[in-house]
Amino acid sequence: MSDNAAYDWDVFDSDDYVARNYARLSPADRQILEQMGEFFRRTEPRPGMRGVDVGAGANLYPALGMLPFCEQITFLEHSSSNLDWLKRQTAGYSPIWDAYWDVLAVHAQYRRLADPRAALAERAAVRQADLLAGADTGAPYDIGTMFFVAESFSTSVAEFRLALRRFCELLRPGAPFAVAFMENSRGYAVGGRNYPAVAVDAAEVSAALGHLTTELDVARIESGDAPLRDGYTGMLLALGRVK
Ligand SMILES: C[S@@+](CC[C@H](N)C(=O)[O-])C[C@H]1O[C@@H](n2cnc3c(N)ncnc32)[C@H](O)[C@@H]1O
Repeated sequence: MSDNAAYDWDVFDSDDYVARNYARLSPADRQILEQMGEFFRRTEPRPGMRGVDVGAGANLYPALGMLPFCEQITFLEHSSSNLDWLKRQTAGYSPIWDAYWDVLAVHAQYRRLADPRAALAERAAVRQADLLAGADTGAPYDIGTMFFVAESFSTSVAEFRLALRRFCELLRPGAPFAVAFMENSRGYAVGGRNYPAVAVDAAEVSAALGHLTTELDVARIESGDAPLRDGYTGMLLALGRVK
């Protein structure tokens, strides 16, 4: 059994996870939104363009970053509780996500979308898949995100690297991506259960993504206030294009 498979992802408490991490927009998530929006806004929308958010869990803001450019966004998830949460939230998302959209909407490319809530409901496809297996993913996609998954779903460095390889395999050559990481995480608790992590830094992320990508930029995101999630030193955001 792989290390990732040793955890019972189906009982992941989506509502507790949102309450802990996203009920209030943190300075760190704001910086990530600003940098992702600045990067993605240069994307040329093409007819039929499809995006993917991998290990989407209980977070909508990576998908909001891709929304104006995509006719369809697939939320790939492994956990049945998170799949249920995604089906409910994509059908009509909670007002907490409005603050996240507002950060993106400083750019005309996002503002042009008058009703992002209705657009997401129309364009979202929620799909069950195990990233490590790499099957039934609906690939290839034209743009992608994966936030707090590769380093936060296993204690294995080999699985961290495999997750990044699988993520890049989901995308067409040249596709832009944003991948976020907890820096030096020691794991996290959700709904009274402990979940795993691999402690990674910018050098480890660059080494794992460097040979798979072009135009890679790995930025350190300072928390700016008391960390929302215990046991980590900051966040990292990798932007670039798949080779
Ligand atoms: C720390 S959460 C991150 C959730 C969300 N992307 C975010 O930004 O907050 C890790 C996510 O990885 C998902 N996950 C765990 N194992 C997975 C696997 N083998 N394939 C795909 N997703 C997986 C979990 O269900 C959970 O949603």
